[in-house]
Amino acid sequence: MEYRFGLIGYPIKHSLSPWIHEKFLQKAGLQGNYSLYEINTNESFADKFADKIEELKNENLNGFNVTVPYKKTIIPFLDEVDKEAEAIGAVNTVICKNGKWIGYNTDGNGYLRSLIKAFPTVGQDKNLKILILGAGGAARGILYTLSINGFQHIDLANRTEESARALKELYELDNTSLLSLKEAENVMEKYDLIIQTTSVGMKSIEGNTIVSINRLSEKNIVSDIIYQPVETNLLRNAKNAGARIHYGHTMLLYQAQYAFELWTNMRVAINEMETELLEQLEG
Ligand code: ATR
Repeated sequence: MEYRFGLIGYPIKHSLSPWIHEKFLQKAGLQGNYSLYEINTNESFADKFADKIEELKNENLNGFNVTVPYKKTIIPFLDEVDKEAEAIGAVNTVICKNGKWIGYNTDGNGYLRSLIKAFPTVGQDKNLKILILGAGGAARGILYTLSINGFQHIDLANRTEESARALKELYELDNTSLLSLKEAENVMEKYDLIIQTTSVGMKSIEGNTIVSINRLSEKNIVSDIIYQPVETNLLRNAKNAGARIHYGHTMLLYQAQYAFELWTNMRVAINEMETELLEQLEG
C-alpha cells in the first residue's frame, strides 16, 4: 500500500514535516508521501476552513498533522478525540481510518520522549523539581503529559499569573506553586529541570530571553522548545553558566515519531536524524 500523509496549518511552506515523515517512510521500508495543505487565514476564514476540510476529506489521506493556528479549530471536524488530546484541548495528529477522523496530541509525549532520550535518568526520577516557564498552549501539553506521567513537583512561572492559575486549576495540581518571572529568576537554581515554552527567543525576536540566568550549574537542565534558532539566548546563557541543555528541535522529531507510530504502528529510530535536522535548521 501507499501511505498518504499531510499537514494543515499556516504558514507551512517551510515546514520540515515532509522531510521528517518521508525519511520515516524510507526507514520503515514503506511507500508513501507527505503533502502540505496550506490554509490561508486571511480570506473569509470561517467559511474557507470548512470548505478546505471538506476538500481534504476527498484526498483520502491515511493521516495528517495539524499545526498553528488550527490545533483547536480542527476539533469540531473530528469524529473522535483521544483522551490526552481532549485534556490538552488541542490536536496535532489525525488518523483517518474507515471513514473516521480521530484526533490525537503527540506534542507532550514527543517532548517527554526527546527529554528522556537526552537525559535518561529524567524518566526514572518522578521527584525531580520542575519549573515550566509560560502558560500557553505549549505549556499546557507539556504540563499535562508530565503530570500524568507521575512527575510530582511542577511549578509554573508566567508573565500573567491568571493564565498559570487557570492551568493549575484545570489539572488540579495542588502541589504546584505559581511564580512571577522575576521570582523564577531568583530561585531557578533550585529546579532540576527548567522548561521554556513561550515564543520569547524565536528567530523573529531573537536576542530576548524570558528570564535572565544567574546561578545555574551542571545540576540544572534547561530546556527550550524553540528550535529556530537552534540555540536560543536562554540556552546559550544556561550553557555558559554550566547547566546541561536540551534543544527544541529534538521535540520536533519525537512528536513526529509518535504521530508516525499512530498512523503505521511502526516506531522508527531517530538516530542520525537529529544531526541531519540540525544541519537543515542551521543551513
Ligand atoms: P502557545 O500556544 O504557542 O504556547 P500562547 O498560547 O499564545 O502560545 O502562549 C504564549 C505564552 O508565551 C504565554 O505564557 C505568554 O504569557 P502571558 O500568559 O502572560 O501572555 C507567553 N509570552 C508571550 N510573549 C511574552 C513576552 N514578551 N514576555 C513574557 N511572556 C510572553
